[in-house]
Amino acid sequence: MAAVQKVAVLTSGGDAPGMNAAIRAVVRAGISRGAEMFGVEHGYTGLMSGSLTRLGARDVGGIIQRGGTMLGTTRCAELKTPAGLDKAVATLRELGISGLVVIGGNGSQSGAAALDAKGVAVVGVASTIDNDLYGTDITIGATTAADIALEAIDRLRVTAASHQRAFLVEVMGRQCGYLALMAGIAGGAEAILVPEVETDPETVARELCEARERGKSHAIVVVAEGARYNAASLAEHFNTHGQRLGFELRVSLLGHIQRGGSPGVFDRMLATRLGAGAVERLLGGHHGELVGMVGGKLVTTRLSEVAGRSRPVDPQWIELARMLAV
Ligand code: F6P
Repeated sequence: MAAVQKVAVLTSGGDAPGMNAAIRAVVRAGISRGAEMFGVEHGYTGLMSGSLTRLGARDVGGIIQRGGTMLGTTRCAELKTPAGLDKAVATLRELGISGLVVIGGNGSQSGAAALDAKGVAVVGVASTIDNDLYGTDITIGATTAADIALEAIDRLRVTAASHQRAFLVEVMGRQCGYLALMAGIAGGAEAILVPEVETDPETVARELCEARERGKSHAIVVVAEGARYNAASLAEHFNTHGQRLGFELRVSLLGHIQRGGSPGVFDRMLATRLGAGAVERLLGGHHGELVGMVGGKLVTTRLSEVAGRSRPVDPQWIELARMLAV
């Protein structure tokens, strides 16, 4: 009789709405396939220190609707060192765990690739609110985070309209403009600044003035945190240079508010499909790959290809945003 396979799951990097749904899917799909499942606490940090607990089907009950991650997460610099990698491998060997599912974004999947290269069978699950991961159209958490940003933009528009003001609304996303574009287009923003396109403060000021002249009574400018000028530096530039905008200006930074929400139906389904898919791949003898979604279907991409690479935002969104900002 073949030995029972032991599989561990961890979440790593920034928490994202839907991580819990992914943990639940990994654990329950593994148990359904006869595997013994373990949860690693606090990401790679817990893997190095041996903080693992056995997870049964009931242990992951009542979490599908919760934001964050029941396992906890860290950004773990030590895993990047040879000693850190050795510690992580040793923990898994001592417990007889043959496979690991890593739920996380760019940095986390680079760690997954390094562990896999060390002989641990690893499969990654694409999860970050930034949606900047190579190998998938969409990552767990990005849609819910965009919805949260959108709700904030809708509220800010109420105040902008009441006071005839312009708002600079800064959203997260690192060097990727996905969140800014989704929330900005869906929120009817007058301008959207993303890292992928160079924009200077003079152009933004001119666009605001022209919007005023075209009869707009208020304006929303969505600024990605990774844009060349973020919201604070843009506002400072306007102030320092006494730039005419046509509106009184206010700044609102959404920050971590975008991360902790309850996942919507899209993120719960995405997380459930990717999580179950990752375990199926591991138990089917595959490893060293990321499970993502392309064209609505589960696809796998080698972790070695994913590591250190990011996916630029689709230029069609930038063009659409421009066309509608008349
Ligand atoms: O990667 C997700 C993300 O929320 C980014 O959008 C943001 O730049 C970063 O994490 C913030 O990281 P931290 O939570 O470590 O401050």
